[in-house]
Amino acid sequence: MRVGFIGTGEIAAAMVRGLAGRGHEIIVSVRNAEKAAHLAHEVPEVHVADNADVVAGTDMVFLCLMADVAQSVLSDLPFRADQSVISVMADVALADLRSYCAPAADIAVTIPLSAIAMGGSMLPVFPASAALEQLFGDSDTILPVASEKALNAHFGGSALSAPLIAMMQTGSKWLAEQTGDPKGAETYVAGVFAAFLREMIETGADFDTLLKGLATEGGLNASLKSHMAHAGAHEALTEGLDALKSRLGL
Ligand SMILES: NC(=O)c1ccc[n+]([C@@H]2O[C@H](COP(=O)([O-])OP(=O)(O)OC[C@H]3O[C@@H](n4cnc5c(N)ncnc54)[C@H](OP(=O)(O)O)[C@@H]3O)[C@@H](O)[C@H]2O)c1
Repeated sequence: MRVGFIGTGEIAAAMVRGLAGRGHEIIVSVRNAEKAAHLAHEVPEVHVADNADVVAGTDMVFLCLMADVAQSVLSDLPFRADQSVISVMADVALADLRSYCAPAADIAVTIPLSAIAMGGSMLPVFPASAALEQLFGDSDTILPVASEKALNAHFGGSALSAPLIAMMQTGSKWLAEQTGDPKGAETYVAGVFAAFLREMIETGADFDTLLKGLATEGGLNASLKSHMAHAGAHEALTEGLDALKSRLGL
């Protein structure tokens, strides 16, 4: 397939890496020239072009801009009715995308994260998109959701990533202070969580099941969990998520 990217930033680069070596022709926009040139050097099937040529020369286009420039960048581009468009932008409603990208009508929104570069990532999408399925269905988990509101809720859920990774980093720094081995501490903490998450995915275990396994009375896990709960960690997380609701239209 001929696949275009408008906006060649962090998430576009991760998606391009995820598509590398899979028989697609990829055109990325020249804006952010350094990143575009780097991708073209790294991934042989990548070409660089201006925004209009990205749209004119492809069958499907990923929109990877920041929301505040979406209207001005997209409104003048030569979208076609036979073209699929997939936005990864938070804060741009489907109705607006339909207006900016007309006459293209096959328009969906998905939420990639950087792990898409390696495959195995989750891709919530609304509405369901045959084009997304065709491109990433073999390598990643496509998760069609029921409504635009549900998709926006998943944008909120995706915001768990940075705070939870930051918590793991705090724990890892604590461990390194005791051992004097920062790299070893990060490897250990990441490995512990990777194993729990693999267990969930492979056995279908839920969070309750994992927590029960860690709930030995008087154990270290139970002690730290109780400390965090008393300190208000869960309320802080829920409050933070709730604070995103109005921005996400929830
Ligand atoms: N990063 C993530 O993990 C993630 C996950 C899910 C969704 N998203 C969504 O993805 C979008 C992009 O995020 P990002 O993290 O990739 O941001 P980013 O790295 O800042 O990328 C945005 C890109 O848009 C480019 N751009 C600005 N004006 C342009 C124009 N007129 N024509 C073409 N390109 C233009 C920027 O170029 P310059 O650098 O030259 O300004 C930059 O390369 C956001 O809407 C975000 O909500 C991101």
